[in-house]
Amino acid sequence: MAEIVCIIGNKGGTGKTTLSHMLCQGLGLLGQRSACILTDTTREPLQPAGRRYITADARTPEALRKVVDKLRGMDDWLGVIDGGGNRTEIDRRLYGIADIVLLPFRESHEDIRTVIKDLDLFPRAYAVPTQWPSNAWQRRTADRSVAQLMSDYKHRILRPVIALSSSKLLLQRQVPDGMPTPLANACRAVAGQLMDLMELEYRQLGDTTERSDAGLPPPRAGIERLVHSH
Ligand SMILES: Nc1ncnc2c1ncn2[C@@H]1O[C@H](COP(=O)(O)OP(=O)(O)OP(=O)(O)O)[C@@H](O)[C@H]1O
Ligand SMILES: [Mg+2]
Repeated sequence: MAEIVCIIGNKGGTGKTTLSHMLCQGLGLLGQRSACILTDTTREPLQPAGRRYITADARTPEALRKVVDKLRGMDDWLGVIDGGGNRTEIDRRLYGIADIVLLPFRESHEDIRTVIKDLDLFPRAYAVPTQWPSNAWQRRTADRSVAQLMSDYKHRILRPVIALSSSKLLLQRQVPDGMPTPLANACRAVAGQLMDLMELEYRQLGDTTERSDAGLPPPRAGIERLVHSH
């Protein structure tokens, strides 16, 4: 049975969509098959070609039900559902079907206040610092805000996803051939963390380049199965 990961949260623009694609790309690089599932009605589906994962369109409740049912029957897969922002009711529903729930948040106090509310609302969820500053001084300030404002939640905070301008490549309708190594490394890091959290085994691949095939077959069978499900 596939595990379902939901990326939700009440605030818009925190990085849910970016994180869902980084996670799936990283899972692919670690040899784990996954589907990135779109539920945001204001966004267009992205092409699966060139990605290490498949994409699925679940912008209606009916399509979501079908995709989740399909995934549940696919052994060794992970489904990563990208929520929408400002949709508490949908978030509640996604929380109900998820095995793991992630709540991305940025360093602002406003984001932190919102993610604390969501952590209270969704007791099984983990908070993921995203778009985290790479500059040492800014990073210290951001880490300090989290330490001060989120001390009661410290066991539910994952390692930060660093701000990386190349992350937007994954949100292009069609990804470019070969992606930058820092992006691949960041994807792998966040995916490895999730796999550890879910106590799933993964391959530690020696290569760090996105271009390398690492002997993995493309997840074609899965594409067929999801694409033809609705
Ligand atoms: N790790 C990152 N590094 C750099 N930029 C990022 C990162 N994550 C997200 N961003 C940028 O932040 C903006 C918002 O990201 P994204 O669309 O992923 O957020 P979202 O939570 O899905 O938004 P919405 O609530 O509208 O669905 C985008 O411009 C995206 O490129
Ligand atoms: Mg989004």
